[in-house]
Amino acid sequence: MEDRIMSGEADGQDVSFELSLRPQTLKQYIGQDKVKENLAIFIEAAKLRQETLDHVLLYGPPGLGKTTLAAIIANEMGVNIRTTAGPAIERPGDLAAILTALEPGDVLFIDEIHRLPRSIEEVLYPAMEDFCLDIVIGKGPSARSVRLDLPPFTLVGATTRAGSLSAPLRDRFGVLSRLEYYNENQLKSIVTRTADLLETEIDGPAASEIARRSRGTPRIANRILRRVRDFAQVRGNGEINADLSEYALELLQVDRLGLDHIDHKLLQNIIGKFRGGPVGLETIAATIGEEAHTIEDVYEPYLLQIGFLQRTPRGRIVTDLAYRHFQMEVPAE
Ligand code: ADE
Repeated sequence: MEDRIMSGEADGQDVSFELSLRPQTLKQYIGQDKVKENLAIFIEAAKLRQETLDHVLLYGPPGLGKTTLAAIIANEMGVNIRTTAGPAIERPGDLAAILTALEPGDVLFIDEIHRLPRSIEEVLYPAMEDFCLDIVIGKGPSARSVRLDLPPFTLVGATTRAGSLSAPLRDRFGVLSRLEYYNENQLKSIVTRTADLLETEIDGPAASEIARRSRGTPRIANRILRRVRDFAQVRGNGEINADLSEYALELLQVDRLGLDHIDHKLLQNIIGKFRGGPVGLETIAATIGEEAHTIEDVYEPYLLQIGFLQRTPRGRIVTDLAYRHFQMEVPAE
């Protein structure tokens, strides 16, 4: 995948940046009101009963704050968080090592949980249900199964694809929360909050402009803010106003709706080579030189959300809205 300021996926810079600036409590967390309201109740109830919180599955597009919420859950419960990711757990022993090292009440956060191998999922079922681990010792006729007790814990899973999770795994989560794209006001508040923490002056119109072009995604908003701040420091007096953000966003090739050169390439290929579609995902992938799953997980969700692209059984179609955005003539039916 190309480097891209508009990607919702985290890069190294985001990780260190987000660790230091991200909200620590549900109160500080902006947006996702329904999810927050529910979590606040479940957390309070678990604390009143002095129990662990039930397992939580957070799902939705990248960059909306799943990892941040997992850390907040642990913080609000007053426990430690242990973090891993689906692809990092290759053998049942890897998971067993993590589970047996947990302290009572800990949150185990598994990012990209849909990428956990099936053989590992099976180890997770009894761990989630009964806080125990069935380990097979030895091989052949002398093999036997030993049951190990685990400390009670809360599994917080995060995924961009709830549909790719196996049903038995999904069913073992007591709380399923879907994160939605943020609206402009919420993103403006996030940009203002982050600028404040970075001790950078930003005026209202500039914060709104960044919010409008951030594809509903806080990670993108904060990343754009960092880049615009660079322009302000080098080309201006360090303060971010509307003119400066406009200038910086132009140079960053982020258009009014937050679409970048890859979105343009994707849409214009479908228009130019396939008369706007329908065209299959694999064909699009081949013509723009990207993996089909990257298009599906990273590029496409926002284009679908703003109604520039439609998914049909016969393939993807570019809508009239997209033609108008490019000031192209809408083809006759
Ligand atoms: N930074 C990134 N996402 C945030 C959110 N939802 N609330 C507050 N600050 C954030």
